Formats: sequence, C-alpha cells, structure tokens
Amino acid sequence: MPLPRRVRIVEVGPRDGLQNEKASVPTDVKVGLIDRLTDAGLPSIEAASFVSPKWVPQMADSAQVMAAIRKKPGVRYPVLTPNMKGLEAALAVHCDEVAVFVAATESFSRKNINCSIAESLERARPVTEEARAHGVRVRGYISCVLGCPYEGEVEPQRVRDVAGVLKSLGCYEVSLGDTIGTGTAGKTQKLISTIAEVIPIAELAGHFHDTYGQALANVYAAMELGVATFDSSVAGLGGCPYAKGATGNLATEDLLYMLDGLDIETGVDMTGLRIAGQYICRFIGRAPVSRVARALDAKQPLSPEHAA
Ligand code: HMG
Ligand code: MG
Repeated sequence: MPLPRRVRIVEVGPRDGLQNEKASVPTDVKVGLIDRLTDAGLPSIEAASFVSPKWVPQMADSAQVMAAIRKKPGVRYPVLTPNMKGLEAALAVHCDEVAVFVAATESFSRKNINCSIAESLERARPVTEEARAHGVRVRGYISCVLGCPYEGEVEPQRVRDVAGVLKSLGCYEVSLGDTIGTGTAGKTQKLISTIAEVIPIAELAGHFHDTYGQALANVYAAMELGVATFDSSVAGLGGCPYAKGATGNLATEDLLYMLDGLDIETGVDMTGLRIAGQYICRFIGRAPVSRVARALDAKQPLSPEHAA
C-alpha cells in the first residue's frame, strides 16, 4: 500500500505534555502556547483535560484555558473527559470535541482512572451519548496498547476488543497509545492488522511515546498500513504520571520533518512549531527534547522577536 498523501497531526503537548510537567504552568502561558500552535497550522490541538484536580493538578485551570484561547475556524481543540462531570465542564465552555480514555490492561486502568476496564467502558457510554447528542465529536484513547508498566506484554486481541467497544459507543476515531514507548515497528503492524478486524484503518490514530526511540519507526510502520493520523507533542513535552519512566510523546518537530521529507502534506509550518516549542521550553526551563528542533536551533536560531 502506498503511504498516505496527507497526514493529520494531533498536537497533544498542551495536555499530554503539560499534565506531566513538574513546573506549574500559569493559564496565560498555556494559552500562549496553544495560540502559537494554532498559528503553526496544526489542525487539531488537544488543549485541556477535565479530570479530577486531585489526580492531575496541572490541568485544574482547563475551563479558563478553553475560555481564553483563540479558536481558529476549522481547527479542533479536543479535551479529555473521563466521566460525566468532565463532560459537563467541557460542554459549559463550548468544547467541540472530547476524548474518553481507557486502557488495554486492568492494572493501568486502576492506576490511571481508578476502575476496571469494563467499568471505564460503561462510564464512557453516557459521556459519548451525551456528547454526540450535543453535536460534539468523541475520540477514544486506549493506553498501553504495546506494553504495560505493570503487566508487560499486551496481546493485540485485548486491544482489539476494547477498540471494538469504543467504536460501538460512537467514537469517530480510536487513538492507540503506546504509553511507555516499548512498541517496535513489527509489533505496531501486528497490532494495527488485528484491530482492523473491527475498525477501519482510516479511523485509527497512532499515539507513540518515544521512551525507547521507536516512535518515528512506529509511525512509518503504521503509515505503511494506511494509518494517517498521529498524535505528537511540540518539543517532545510530556510523559504519563502513572507510567514511571515514560518520556514524552514523539516530538511534533521530528514527526513533521519526516513527513515533509516524504512530501506528505500536513499544513503545519516548521518555523511556527519551533516558535511554540521555544516559547514553552523557555518557560519550563529546559531545551526541546526534539532532535530536529535542536539541530535547527544550532544551524539557524530563531530571530529574537520570534523566540520572545
Ligand atoms: P475517583 O477518585 O475514582 O472518582 O477518580 P470520584 O468520582 O470518586 O471523584 C473523586 C473526586 O474527584 C470528587 O471530588 C469528584 O467530584 C472529583 P471530592 O468529592 O473528593 O472533592 N471529580 C472530578 N473533578 C473534576 N473533573 C472531573 C471529576 N471527576 C471526579 N471530571 C477519576 C476517578 C477518573 C475522576 C480520576 O481517576 C481522574 O481524574 N483520573 C485522570 C487521570 C489522568 O488524567 N491521566 C492522564 C490522562 S490519560 C493519558 O495521559 C494517556 C493518553 O495520553 C494515551 C496514552 O499515552 O496512553 C491519553
Ligand atoms: Mg499519552
């Protein structure tokens, strides 16, 4: 199968990235980051998370963030909603897309959302129904699709079964989370082929964390099977509070560099991305994790007004 001609990048840095940062990032800095990502041409920016502030204090100001960002027509700003309380908060600030999230393993499900897989899918049911009744699109996430920090190897059939339920609930897309980044290209293809038994490949997204440096290879392997949506995080921000040692998502700059090199359209501008990446890295006080951002910064630094 030829590689896709166009790929949709879902930028998850403001949520998956910042939820895991030790530094408390003020609301106006989050808004500044999201607005810069909008300017960079990203078609979908996961902007916030309506979860319990006791569990993830970094996302406690999500309502304020969603009220303050500049929403560009045509760009989507999804938010995480683990339950009805989260959905109600998201609807109150007019979110246009929400995401429910479940896991492929019982242990991770308990650690992340304090319930079994079956309970999490039951919780997702009214969230999905109510969101769709309001005309809000629902994305589904599955964590630990290629390995679990507590249970190790994960059989593709387990992921397929969970994915099938998310599809039946009405999720328009299922994002496959390699939460701890242990997946490799062959396993990624086996997983996708197995899930394709219950979901069309056009409705799958890859969400690869880069802990073992395999994320780009996994993206390529997934594209070979027709997957054309990938989640990534500017400057490689992120990790997961419930997966010890997990690093950030694949860096958006690294993903874009590979896709540009393959002449695959994304609509995303590298300079705009670097501006967003430098902005947030300056605030949190570290260099971008992206290899591409570092190489470009060394070769051709952004002008001072861009880097402000
Ligand atoms: P719980 O303690 O079992 O739930 O948490 P509860 O219903 O008993 O509620 C406990 C307290 O939280 C109550 O407050 C609720 O009101 C409040 P209290 O009465 O004690 O003052 N609460 C909420 N507050 C705000 N918004 C809400 C909400 N719900 C309850 N929506 C719960 C269950 C799901 C809420 C909790 O476990 C939770 O919030 N977990 C979120 C964990 C999380 O955000 N993890 C990271 C995101 S997933 C991820 O990163 C993976 C992904 O990137 C893919 C991948 O890489 O794998 C997507
Ligand atoms: Mg993640």
